[in-house]
Amino acid sequence: MSKIRAAVLGASGYIGGEVVRLLLGHPEVDVTALGARESAGKALDEIQPNLRGRTDLRFKPIEEIRDGADVFFLSLPHGEAHRVVPALPRDAKVIDLSGDFRLSDRATWEAHYKMPHAAWELQREFVYGVPEINRARLRESRRVAVGGCFATCAILSCWPLVKEKRSAGPIVIDGKTGSSGSGAKPGEKTHHPFRAGAFFAYEPFHHRHTPEIRQALGGADVLFQPHSAPMVRGVFTTSYVPLAAEPDGDAILELYRSAYAGEKFVRVGKGTSNVAHVRGSNFIDVGVAARGRMAIIFGAIDNLIKGGAGQAVQCMNIMYGLPEDAGLNQWPSII
Ligand SMILES: NC(=O)c1ccc[n+]([C@@H]2O[C@H](COP(=O)([O-])OP(=O)(O)OC[C@H]3O[C@@H](n4cnc5c(N)ncnc54)[C@H](OP(=O)(O)O)[C@@H]3O)[C@@H](O)[C@H]2O)c1
Repeated sequence: MSKIRAAVLGASGYIGGEVVRLLLGHPEVDVTALGARESAGKALDEIQPNLRGRTDLRFKPIEEIRDGADVFFLSLPHGEAHRVVPALPRDAKVIDLSGDFRLSDRATWEAHYKMPHAAWELQREFVYGVPEINRARLRESRRVAVGGCFATCAILSCWPLVKEKRSAGPIVIDGKTGSSGSGAKPGEKTHHPFRAGAFFAYEPFHHRHTPEIRQALGGADVLFQPHSAPMVRGVFTTSYVPLAAEPDGDAILELYRSAYAGEKFVRVGKGTSNVAHVRGSNFIDVGVAARGRMAIIFGAIDNLIKGGAGQAVQCMNIMYGLPEDAGLNQWPSII
């Protein structure tokens, strides 16, 4: 079988760079084009020096990449992807890492993303890309909206309790993210002196991942509050889930072990998770604590891998019927 030809649009960013790094190590993929905006014309290793010596590819303007690929990975800012998708070949697969096609309700999307959607008629073609809750639909899909980083961590933390109707709601989810979650371009609230020793909350009640979490959890009553933590990589969520009934012994832990039995990228444990234990890998560590009628679930992911590039490659593997961990066998580096 010939290899899958992949183009990465937004390859000069943090997520795009990780998509390229993973695809260059994927046994079934040839990376055929790298799309960028300001970095167009530069060699890959001028922007991603970690990939020096790996390929001679150079960045091209995004709008010049319309063919020569079987699958297009879009790692563009939200508000860009929905303008690009209509111009891509109809028969190509599209894996979008932005938030542009994740929500199925237009008014909710436009309220949270604060702009009119430019290609809403295409939204229904997109399948939500969190494989552990949506694998069957991903197998049949041509277009995927990969789950957001906070959303992926929170959804996989709460899903077993919600699916088994063990949650009495409302669920309170407290999230922390590292600075790479804000992308490669520094801003007032994202540059190093501001963030390095700081810890603060932002966007109470209004974060874009709130409706995404609610939608994936079947409309569950969810309150999500994000925080900026002084680390570079990593998302950590603490989910407080009131239980419908008091469980026996380790019943909640067993529920999680059983829900994720056979999942290659979900590691269930007792007590807290730790972002340092998943860094650089596609794992989510889900930690379980329960007492009385309350469960506290601790989720940890690498925002750029399970929260983005790794999950996108996992979705591609499913779409092509490949082993789900092809190209994704990196174990975490603890430092
Ligand atoms: N960072 C995360 O943890 C994370 C996790 C999951 C999903 N995502 C999503 O993935 C997408 C990319 O995020 P990122 O963190 O990789 O961002 P980033 O580092 O800022 O990268 C943005 C990329 O898009 C290109 N681009 C094209 N048009 C652009 C425009 N009008 N303004 C700015 N950049 C433009 C940039 O090219 P030039 O640099 O060459 O101009 C760059 O390649 C976003 O939709 C984000 O929400 C991010």
